[in-house]
Amino acid sequence: MKSFNYYTPTEVVFGKGTENEVAGLLEKYGAKKVLIHYGGGSVIRSGLMKKVTDKLDEAGIDYLSLGGAVPNPRLGLVYEGIELCKKEKVDFLLTVGGGSAIDSAKAIGYGVANEGDVWDFYDHKRQATACLPLGVILTLAATGSEMSDSSVITKEEGLIKRGYSSNYCRPKFAIMNPELTMTLPDYQTACGCTDIMMHTMERYFAKEGSMELTDALAEGLLRTVMNNAKILVKDPKNYDARAEVMWAGSLAHNGLTGCGSDGGDWASHKLEHELGGLFDVAHGAGLAAVWGSWARYVYKEALPRFKKFAINVMGVEDKGSDEDIALKGIEAMEDFYRQINMPTNLRELGVEASDEQLVEMAHKCAVGVGGVMGSAKKLKEEDMLAIFRACK
Ligand code: NZQ
Ligand code: ZN
Repeated sequence: MKSFNYYTPTEVVFGKGTENEVAGLLEKYGAKKVLIHYGGGSVIRSGLMKKVTDKLDEAGIDYLSLGGAVPNPRLGLVYEGIELCKKEKVDFLLTVGGGSAIDSAKAIGYGVANEGDVWDFYDHKRQATACLPLGVILTLAATGSEMSDSSVITKEEGLIKRGYSSNYCRPKFAIMNPELTMTLPDYQTACGCTDIMMHTMERYFAKEGSMELTDALAEGLLRTVMNNAKILVKDPKNYDARAEVMWAGSLAHNGLTGCGSDGGDWASHKLEHELGGLFDVAHGAGLAAVWGSWARYVYKEALPRFKKFAINVMGVEDKGSDEDIALKGIEAMEDFYRQINMPTNLRELGVEASDEQLVEMAHKCAVGVGGVMGSAKKLKEEDMLAIFRACK
């Protein structure tokens, strides 16, 4: 087992009606002037925003709001939020929404708490030294951003989607009421389940490390999400299935399922970020579209992990050669994606990419990762291009 630092400072308040605790939590964490940040309006249509502002009004907490965070959230709105927060002397950010609104708030928080251009952090030119404190009322189980150290922003100029991680942006609290996810379109629920699983799979497909406990947690989480994702396809209002998925979403990306590994692989995520940047696809669907091609490209280099995954997660029989078992595990995963109506290639994702665009994405990806990425197999630009071509 490799050495690790496990840091998850976020207070989780989980269950039915927990959004009613928002004012008490804001007071507990010292909020005096709050910016409520949200997305395209689903939280207004569902009535959640009114509930939240009523609670803040009752408690006499000063606030203003800024909506408009889109999936693959844009830098332009981040700049707007930073200016607004500085002008209004905001000292706390409250996100009501999914990963995009949370990430947009994290970027605003960096921009307010640090001098200079906030994009520098996403461009990996320098490190942040602080972030405005933030809290979350989660409406979509997917990214794990409600507990994670990361945020992902897209710069309009050049359509560059980049992530930045630091412990400063970990939310102070995360309110998670699984009922709030019941208004989601089925597609977003499935995208969320895919993303949750991928956060654990990226950590699982590390080449090195003996991680008996971490592997068992990861495998249990993956089986749980698969079971409940299938339930939600037929019964989207099933509270227990929503709850299992929501909690899995946080644990999949708060570091727990990577303790003791070499940091994980993350190639599928990096490839998806190029797709999201150029074609504005939903993150989870983009991951499903590239994963099979990535897995077939790398599995021989990390055969024991792929074999273990096939048997312990996908239920493949321990019979035949290791390669056969590993390949059956990959096929079973793709079957699962089909069962929850997720794509397994770019065409099914609705992306008609020209070869020039694949070349462009591979190049941007290589630049973004500094040349090489991956743990199961080290991938260079030509490998990235080969995977994009394979999943066309
Ligand atoms: O914008 P609104 O109107 O709220 O609608 C959203 C959006 O259209 C809708 N939605 C959310 N909750 C809803 C709802 N609709 C009805 N009822 C509800 N309860 O769902 C759509 C997608 O929302 P979004 O926030 O974009 O989705 P998600 O949570 O999947 O976030 C995706 C973004 O997070 C990044 C992705 O790359 C992508 O940009 N990621 C962030 C990570 C992190 N910070 O740790 C890690 C991930 O790997 C990921 O890269
Ligand atoms: Zn993800």
